[in-house]
Amino acid sequence: MKNEYLEDNNGPKLDLIDGQPREVRSPNGNVTLQVVMSENTDELLKLIVKNNDYWLNPPDDFSPLLDPGELKEFIVSRLTSESRAFMIRNREGDLVGISDIRPTGEQDRVEGEKRGIVSYYIDTDYQGHGYATDATAVATAYGLYIMHYDVMIGQTNPGNIASQRVLEKAGYEIDGTVKRKYGKDYDLVEYSYRKP
Ligand SMILES: CC(C)(COP(=O)(O)OP(=O)(O)OC[C@H]1O[C@@H](n2cnc3c(N)ncnc32)[C@H](O)[C@@H]1OP(=O)(O)O)[C@@H](O)C(=O)NCCC(=O)NCCS
Repeated sequence: MKNEYLEDNNGPKLDLIDGQPREVRSPNGNVTLQVVMSENTDELLKLIVKNNDYWLNPPDDFSPLLDPGELKEFIVSRLTSESRAFMIRNREGDLVGISDIRPTGEQDRVEGEKRGIVSYYIDTDYQGHGYATDATAVATAYGLYIMHYDVMIGQTNPGNIASQRVLEKAGYEIDGTVKRKYGKDYDLVEYSYRKP
């Protein structure tokens, strides 16, 4: 499947605000991704605390065992040259979810390739509006063209059909099932999007 967000030969169609990719909007205007900075984590923490039990779906990182202080530290730790956390806002400006990009862990490394992992979580009150799909397409473009990853991957539980649809609709291709250890052993369906 083609990814309309990445088709432009000149690179991704991202709206850069003030020349800085701190905020990027999907071409259809459905979502805006804002890079989480240490000063704007409070709103995000509320969203995570509200949805944490529902979102807990390994291999995610948002363990409900984290207290808000630890969560804040975790989010800020995403602000490195290789990682980003994004707040996802809809057209009305509501905070509807979170997405993040980070380097793959040891288990998913491939020699000679820079590989990133994308994740996405939408508030239960805002699901079914295409927000995860649009946010994932934008985050993927961000990972490939702004952070210079060669490949972005997504991993989901086999039963998480919505998440698999999100990756397919964002232009990812299925690689197959992989066995991964995140505390315990999981079979995960892996998808990838390689920079054209
Ligand atoms: C997965 C998730 C991000 C989807 O968010 P969303 O904004 O509702 O997704 P979208 O609206 O972009 O699209 C979801 C697609 O999945 C489909 N879908 C949703 N729930 C589904 C279900 N239970 N079974 C089958 N398909 C489903 C939708 O119909 C849509 O496909 P379509 O356009 O072909 O109809 C959201 O459910 C979520 O936050 N889940 C918990 C966290 C999570 O699992 N994150 C992924 C970790 S890998």
